[in-house]
Amino acid sequence: MTNLFKSIKVGKLHLEHRVAMAPLTRSRSAQPGNVPSAMNVEYYRQRASAALIITEATQISQQGQGYAWTPGIYTDEQVQGWRAVSDAVHREGGHIFLQLWHVGRVSHPIFQPDGALPVAPSALPVNGKTFIIDDEGNGVWGDVPVPQELSIEGIRKIIADYRQAARNAISAGMDGVEIHAGNGYLLDQFINSSSNHRRDEYGGSIENRARILIEVVAAVTEEVGAENVGVRLTPMGRFMGMNDETPEATFGHVVRELNRFGLAYLHLVEPAMVGVVKDEQFDPRWDAIIAQLRGEFSGVLMLAGGYDRVTAEQALADGRGDIIAFGRPFIANPDLPVRLKHGYSLNEGFPASYFGGSEQGYIDYPTYAEV
Ligand SMILES: Cc1cc2nc3c(=O)[nH]c(=O)nc-3n(C[C@H](O)[C@H](O)[C@H](O)COP(=O)(O)O)c2cc1C
Repeated sequence: MTNLFKSIKVGKLHLEHRVAMAPLTRSRSAQPGNVPSAMNVEYYRQRASAALIITEATQISQQGQGYAWTPGIYTDEQVQGWRAVSDAVHREGGHIFLQLWHVGRVSHPIFQPDGALPVAPSALPVNGKTFIIDDEGNGVWGDVPVPQELSIEGIRKIIADYRQAARNAISAGMDGVEIHAGNGYLLDQFINSSSNHRRDEYGGSIENRARILIEVVAAVTEEVGAENVGVRLTPMGRFMGMNDETPEATFGHVVRELNRFGLAYLHLVEPAMVGVVKDEQFDPRWDAIIAQLRGEFSGVLMLAGGYDRVTAEQALADGRGDIIAFGRPFIANPDLPVRLKHGYSLNEGFPASYFGGSEQGYIDYPTYAEV
């Protein structure tokens, strides 16, 4: 074991090793108000030995929410809740970035202001489900309705919301923010040609489809400093109906534009593993596009998706990426870095308790020492 445990500089942070915690939605914020709770503080504190924690996706506004009980970063209470999380992680010597999220069309009127339809680049249906709350208050998977097309004014408001949310994250003591531009959510819906049929300056050409992301990155980096900002992309991801006609050209353009900012890092999700959906159609070109984007991006590259100890070491040795983020292994193993370092066995996770619920399957996974 060598490469995973070499230090690396990311933005202004000096990371002791390269085992990051991937962003993981767990749908357990305190209600009402989607506020990080004492239980959430304990969950992140337990995982502070990650080189860098990227928090679960956190909505930048009420409109940006699409799943039950996910936390926000747009009210004072939420900022205070996140402050307790960042303090706990810092006390343990860890580092933490907050993932900024707007789901776009992957939502439901129950989450939207005034019960409105969710917003998207275009009013196109998606064959997908989101985690909603039924009349008895239980979390259930529900269909995503056809969204309403965003106006230019609506787009400007969202960019302003990203800016404010980034400022709030820094006030909450976060070391930085990661802009979630993958997995079929709002920014990805603009980038991919399948979900963006607009004819104005935010649709049509590659430059136009990438425009909102670049404007969000410009606003957020101006607000909190580019060295404190990462961006997550899922080129060739198929989750939530994503598909692009010319992915090499589209994502190549996005990455070359991102180079202008001097970001802390770029985070790519290996398309074979964008999330929990197993029956997606995987594009055979995915391996090549990761290599292409690695060549085109001029900063630190983080990779995620299906990695284990051996494949992570190999990816670093091959120069495929610089940091590896682990998702599901970190759910079940709060002390994942030490286990990978020494080759200790890993706990198995319980997928039934990934989304929503109590302390069970959340903060009760034992460390190796406890086993
Ligand atoms: C329960 C669960 C929740 C997730 N939530 C998020 C999220 O909030 N934001 C995000 O960008 N990706 C999310 N993902 C994707 C993970 O960050 C990661 O890319 C994926 O799990 C593949 O990595 P792994 O094989 O190490 O788990 C989630 C995945 C899982 C399993």
